[in-house]
Amino acid sequence: MKIAENIYYVGVNDRNKERFECLWPLSNGISYNSFLVVGEKIALIDTVDSRFFPLFIEKIKEVIGERTIDYLVINHMEPDHSGSMGLIREYYPEICLVGNKKTLQMAEGFYREAGKTFCVSEGTTLDLGNLSFTFFLTPMVHWPETMVTYESHTKALFSGDAFGCYGALNGSVLDSTIDIEPYFPEMIRYYSNIVGKYGCQVQMALKKVCQLELKMICSTHGPVWTENIPHVLREYNRLSLYEGEPGVCLVFGSMYGNTMEMAECVAEGLVRGGLKNFSMHKLSRTDPSYLIADAFRYKGLLLGAPTYNNGLYPLMDHFVTDLQHRMLKNRLIGCFGSFSWAGQAVKKLVDFASSPGMELIGEPVEMKQGFSFEIGEKCRLLGESMAARILE
Ligand SMILES: Cc1cc2nc3c(=O)[nH]c(=O)nc-3n(C[C@H](O)[C@H](O)[C@H](O)COP(=O)(O)O)c2cc1C
Ligand SMILES: [Fe+2]
Ligand SMILES: [Fe+2]
Repeated sequence: MKIAENIYYVGVNDRNKERFECLWPLSNGISYNSFLVVGEKIALIDTVDSRFFPLFIEKIKEVIGERTIDYLVINHMEPDHSGSMGLIREYYPEICLVGNKKTLQMAEGFYREAGKTFCVSEGTTLDLGNLSFTFFLTPMVHWPETMVTYESHTKALFSGDAFGCYGALNGSVLDSTIDIEPYFPEMIRYYSNIVGKYGCQVQMALKKVCQLELKMICSTHGPVWTENIPHVLREYNRLSLYEGEPGVCLVFGSMYGNTMEMAECVAEGLVRGGLKNFSMHKLSRTDPSYLIADAFRYKGLLLGAPTYNNGLYPLMDHFVTDLQHRMLKNRLIGCFGSFSWAGQAVKKLVDFASSPGMELIGEPVEMKQGFSFEIGEKCRLLGESMAARILE
């Protein structure tokens, strides 16, 4: 599939995979994007998961016939992109692997031999005759060797995982030709699940990328961005600065319904306070992937959980740890929870809400045993306090 003068999409859809990294649910599959840049010399940018190699090589042959590939640029060594490297070299033994020092070391480590190589560093250029690549290092977006490749003639940026999203591509790869709306939430989910920890490094990468004139961003997953480039850059900037949109993610756990009654009242408080933009999740029903995405999306977090074995209800403990690992910050947090004989849950949630970069909102509500009208009203007040801060 030709996507620009000299650039062809040769990636594949994986509609079988249930979970990316065996962790993150794929309700609509995922694409592994690879591109052929056909100048006087030919370069292949990234590869695909090796299980798709037969289809991949067919697509390549369809574009270049019996011509050979001169360069294989590997922007990212994770196996969803580097997996077909060895097989490609069997077809094109003279192919030259282009990567930075860390890429080439990893290529040796993963696949024992890298073959012919060309080692690049920040700003190195590679001439394809009528086309020309410049390489920029973007470490930790998402691994240490990650880099991006810019083709200055077409003004296309091959960005690795950056700006990628979950979801197979239906019928086309260009954002201007498909219904793009479903991909935006999947970009936030992908970012928060996979890259979320590295906000600082994403900021450094954005500074480099924003100096380039961009007509096309070709990520390794999801649509090729053209008319949506400004939106995608804005979203990445916001997410990597940990800036939430004015809204709330309400997450609660409950075994027997006591904490859930509290959560219902907290939600009533949000609405009473005039807030519409919020999501509400019961921990046992919603996969952590979506919870993390909403925690990154919204400025406010309302967390409710029962005490369990003298600690926090395990699913909430897990969720809070997920957020801590991703160094989520700049969040307004409200807490509520329940216990029967010695409360721990609310204390632990308040500890989280008091950690650096977080701000505790309203009065935490702690309930002993059964629900009462007083507790209900305290929960509504908590919701109202949060709504007031979000809307101020
Ligand atoms: C397995 C289990 C362990 C619990 N551990 C504690 C505990 O250590 N301390 C406590 O005060 N309550 C404990 N409880 C009681 C619950 O925290 C309390 O009943 C709470 O209101 C349940 O909330 P829920 O109805 O939202 O599930 C435990 C309950 C269960 C089922
Ligand atoms: Fe990756
Ligand atoms: Fe990837």
